Amino acid sequence: GLLHASHLPGTEAGQEASGSPSISVADLAGPRDGEADRVFDLVAKQAEVKLSSGKAVQAWTYNGVIPGPELRMKLGELIEVRLVNEDIADGVTIHWHGLDVPNAEDGVAGATQDAVMPGESHTYRFRAEQVGTFWYHSHQHSKEAVEKGLFGMLIVEPPSTEDEPGEDITVATHVWEGGGLAIGDNDTLQRKIVAPGTPVKIRLLNTDNWTRKAHHVTGTSFRVTAIDGVELNKPGELRGTALYLTTGARYDLAFIMPDNPVYVSVNGSKKLGVLLAPDGGKDYEVPDIDGSGGLFDPSHYGEPADTPFGPDSVFDREFTMLLDNGLAFYNGVPGLYDTINGNVFPRTPMFVVKEGEVVKTTIINRSAVDHPMHLHGHHMLVLSRNGEVTTGSPWWSDTLDVLPGEVYEVAFLADNPGLWMDHCHNLVHAAAGMTMHLMYD
Ligand code: C2O
Ligand code: CU
Repeated sequence: GLLHASHLPGTEAGQEASGSPSISVADLAGPRDGEADRVFDLVAKQAEVKLSSGKAVQAWTYNGVIPGPELRMKLGELIEVRLVNEDIADGVTIHWHGLDVPNAEDGVAGATQDAVMPGESHTYRFRAEQVGTFWYHSHQHSKEAVEKGLFGMLIVEPPSTEDEPGEDITVATHVWEGGGLAIGDNDTLQRKIVAPGTPVKIRLLNTDNWTRKAHHVTGTSFRVTAIDGVELNKPGELRGTALYLTTGARYDLAFIMPDNPVYVSVNGSKKLGVLLAPDGGKDYEVPDIDGSGGLFDPSHYGEPADTPFGPDSVFDREFTMLLDNGLAFYNGVPGLYDTINGNVFPRTPMFVVKEGEVVKTTIINRSAVDHPMHLHGHHMLVLSRNGEVTTGSPWWSDTLDVLPGEVYEVAFLADNPGLWMDHCHNLVHAAAGMTMHLMYD
């Protein structure tokens, strides 16, 4: 079957994949020629890293730090990232989570490239074609790699940021195996001095393998301006609203700094978050967390805007993903597994599409736990949840948290040929076979 095309697009021109579809490798790789506008060097290596608990751990890092270097780029730029693996024995790659790059640049070991082994290197090249908040992480033994620190943030800015003055703060929260929390620069509580009246943008990312995290903004009203790197249309003011970020998901928030301190908390903690204070001369107390605003609901937030397809469109393909838990064999080991359509990889379904098709997928969670479903290379427009059509701003997601009992209808345009992963971003589930492929015919 198609799964044997596991060495599909190599990045070296002229490398032919046996049994591959009628797509040429050149179409699937990013621009190989021409001088890059921005070059990043990432060295994967082990390093001792201090967690916020004070505990020192042996981490797997890009360039010796967790998170890895923040990669900032501008829309339209040609990006080159040179990855060197110094001493990660398992091998590494870089996957650009949420950034819809050409398939051969997607960084999935065993699917779009081979893992980069110690002493080896690999160069990624792609054009930054979406503005927004993304992240990158190794996609070789992802569960262990992400847990141990092989990830960082990736921000694509508009070509001109003159119209975006103010503070731009990234907040990536990561839980180390066995406890200990790292946030941003590894401090549990970050303090930032921000003058009243300053426009503030906060980019939230949950890098965890396992659980979703609650975020609260205390001390000001705010707007959620983007989900998974895609801007929302006319987002309204929120106050005290709980924002749950599933693993791998990103929310961008915006507010104008008031005269009082603002605290962005993680999991309701007064010790884990970012405290923005208008005056560095004072030692502000962390305020009590404001959770008065209920749960954030992206399906009824903001105002409608045109989308290329909607709930009433005629779809070229319709698929169903039934998420459940049951008896299966994974790597020959029988057990209770989190399953897609009754099975685990590689007996999960392979969705086959043609370029240009509009594809609808119904995702049903019949299990007792949530499954953040991540589709590579595409963004999914959420059409409905539990039979209720979304009414707010168009809501595009690349990592959709599907809670127990929920049913989502999503749709995407098949505009990025290749072999793509579609998996649960609870990476513990993914590592136990809750993964499948989307394949272009
Ligand atoms: Cu962020 Cu396939 O992963
Ligand atoms: Cu899952």
